[in-house]
Amino acid sequence: MRSIKRLSLLQHLLFFFLFLFLILDLSELATGQQDQFVYSGFAGANLALDGTATITPDGLLELTNGTFRLRGHAFHPTPFYFSRAPNGTAVQAPQSFAVSYVFAIYCIQAQTCGHGMASVVAASSNFSDTMPTQYLGLINDHNNGDPANRFFAVELDTNWNDEFKDIDNNHVGIDINNLVSVKSSSAGYYDDRDEGNFQNLTLASYKMMQVWVEYDGGRRQISVSLAPVDMAKPTKPLLSTTYNLSTVLPDMVYVGFSASTGSFDSRQYVLGWSFGINRPSPAIDITKLPKLPRQGPKPRSKVLEIVLPIVSATFVLAVGTVVILLVRRRLRYAELREDWETEFGPHRFSYKDLFHATKGFKNKNLLGIGGFGKVYKGVLPKSKVEIAVKRISHDSKQGMKEFVAEVASIGRLQHRNIVQLHGYCRRKAELLLVYDYLSNGSLDKYLYDQEKKPTLTWAQRYKIIKDIASALLYLHQEWEKVVLHRDIKPSNVLLDDGLNGRLGDFGLARLYDHETGPQTTHVVGTIGYLAPELAHTNKATPLSDVFSFGMFVLEVTCGRKPIEPTSQGNQLTLVRWVIDHWHQGFLTDAVDTKLRGAYNVDEACLALKLGLLCSHPLINLRPNMRQVMQYLNGDMPPPDLNLTHMSFNIPSLMQNEVSVDDLRAALMV
Ligand SMILES: *[C@@H]1O[C@H](CO)[C@@H](O)[C@H](O)[C@H]1NC(C)=O
Ligand SMILES: *[C@@H]1O[C@H](CO)[C@@H](O)[C@H](O)[C@H]1NC(C)=O
Ligand SMILES: *[C@@H]1O[C@H](CO)[C@@H](O)[C@H](O)[C@H]1NC(C)=O
Ligand SMILES: *[C@@H]1O[C@H](CO)[C@@H](O)[C@H](O)[C@H]1NC(C)=O
Ligand SMILES: *[C@@H]1O[C@H](CO)[C@@H](O)[C@H](O)[C@H]1NC(C)=O
Repeated sequence: MRSIKRLSLLQHLLFFFLFLFLILDLSELATGQQDQFVYSGFAGANLALDGTATITPDGLLELTNGTFRLRGHAFHPTPFYFSRAPNGTAVQAPQSFAVSYVFAIYCIQAQTCGHGMASVVAASSNFSDTMPTQYLGLINDHNNGDPANRFFAVELDTNWNDEFKDIDNNHVGIDINNLVSVKSSSAGYYDDRDEGNFQNLTLASYKMMQVWVEYDGGRRQISVSLAPVDMAKPTKPLLSTTYNLSTVLPDMVYVGFSASTGSFDSRQYVLGWSFGINRPSPAIDITKLPKLPRQGPKPRSKVLEIVLPIVSATFVLAVGTVVILLVRRRLRYAELREDWETEFGPHRFSYKDLFHATKGFKNKNLLGIGGFGKVYKGVLPKSKVEIAVKRISHDSKQGMKEFVAEVASIGRLQHRNIVQLHGYCRRKAELLLVYDYLSNGSLDKYLYDQEKKPTLTWAQRYKIIKDIASALLYLHQEWEKVVLHRDIKPSNVLLDDGLNGRLGDFGLARLYDHETGPQTTHVVGTIGYLAPELAHTNKATPLSDVFSFGMFVLEVTCGRKPIEPTSQGNQLTLVRWVIDHWHQGFLTDAVDTKLRGAYNVDEACLALKLGLLCSHPLINLRPNMRQVMQYLNGDMPPPDLNLTHMSFNIPSLMQNEVSVDDLRAALMV
């Protein structure tokens, strides 16, 4: 008995487990294994497909593939019990269900897009006896409205069809056995973010949108909503109606999609899909949805028609702007450069550097306006060296080569009393010379501009005279070749920090000399400082520089210009003025009164006599610069110059063209 009891206990247990197993197994079979599904992408999904429907390698359910007048269907492989409980018994109240899916429709022409797609709950998944185009793969041309069709569909119709009383070519409709919708609405949604206002949507815009189809079996309520994919289900559905679907659908239903194309290219995609019976449809994971393929014509046309023109216009504009800027920059910084200049390379400055150094030749940087052009202060960008840039307008090629050669050689001149010339730059109609910048400016300001500059003491003046003499000696006799200055005058003498005199502006006269040509008698230099012989020969010599130097010495000593108007309206030359004082026995009265008598009488007399000697109209009587230097340094006794030598009418000689013989005769008295 014990063993039998034990056995029966075992048997009971065995039967119990068997029974349990059977029940579970049966219930599994009865419910079609589940009461919900969700696809966030269809990669690997086992769907029943026909027609053009395929699952792309990316995991998209492609219902139609763009070929004309075809249809495609996709169904969940197993049916669901609609009018029965999961345990198989028929139920009084029909079940509720909910479908949701994400779709996108691509169309070449949105206005004539063919034809549409629909989500379907139907008695059968066999839609082989249907037609494409306006029939949407749901019916054929003779069974519209037939109760035997047994389907409940929600159409996304992108084609306006009179036969089925379509409201437009972009609508959502509830179709029950019949493509004349029970209810339909233009595509759109009631926007919860905008107080429930209606927003249009374009079905065939190839934008991802989500559809929710719900049937409440108890209330026989059908509601359909549509929204952009990134939005939650709108509170107010797009469509809602009451219909007893138990009169349409059998106990077992299939869930799926149908789609068709017409005469125009369209492709319908489902990206995600979920279904629930007696429960809401599970959420589709939007983040896991497959990517829509790039569509050929439309995005391309968008690119070609909108983006490309804009991009190319922008590109052309940008290139144009750059070209214009470059051209302007080129023009702005344009220079003249010729082959022969290569040998002067180190003396060549780029216009750009000079432009930046002088802040674009701003008036703020203007140091002065001289006979040859404007002078600007500048700071070289890299070396931070202070420079003075002289801008000379010059449009002749003639003489330029010789001039530049001279500039280059002048660049090699090194003397403490010479304004260092660093180099040059050539542009069309313009020559730029780069010099040392000297903070104290030119000597003429100190002689005549009492408001701006202090009067120089005698010692300072005498030092400057010696400085310039030393510079001229260097130019005429000490350097490897003779360099003529041709324009010695106080405005060409610059003062450095220690008020030492420095001679600047060499060779410019020569530049103009070349320009005027050999046949002209135009004399270069500055009136009042020009040696009289230049009027006849037009040939500058070291002694014509000496003449100018003599005038310079007189000017510095007397603080008077070479030619000044008299109260009678005549012109009185400085030479005449000095000689007149000498005549009257008071040579030193000619010394600048601004010195208030504070000067070395010997030095002043020497300066005056030397000045007269140097600016002697007779070339042969002028000393050379070495002699001048010796006089000034006291290495040689002052020249044996007495009034009788000078008492003839030098100014008249200078003004009237007197032959050299006449002069010599006059002087050799
Ligand atoms: C579309 O599908 C049909 C039927 O499956 C096929 O004959 C046709 O070649 C396909 N068209 C394209 C463009 O893939
Ligand atoms: C089947 O399920 C329904 C409700 O789901 C219940 O009312 C009925 O009693 C069940 N029948 C059986 C045989 O379990
Ligand atoms: C689908 O239905 C048609 C008739 O409408 C039938 O000929 C065909 O065999 C059916 N296909 C399947 C797979 O049941
Ligand atoms: C929606 O579209 C209809 C017709 O296409 C138009 O009359 C209506 O103004 C549109 N509404 C909005 C909010 O764009
Ligand atoms: C719905 O239709 C079914 C089948 O015709 C019927 O049995 C049922 O009573 C109807 N339900 C309602 C609420 O009308």
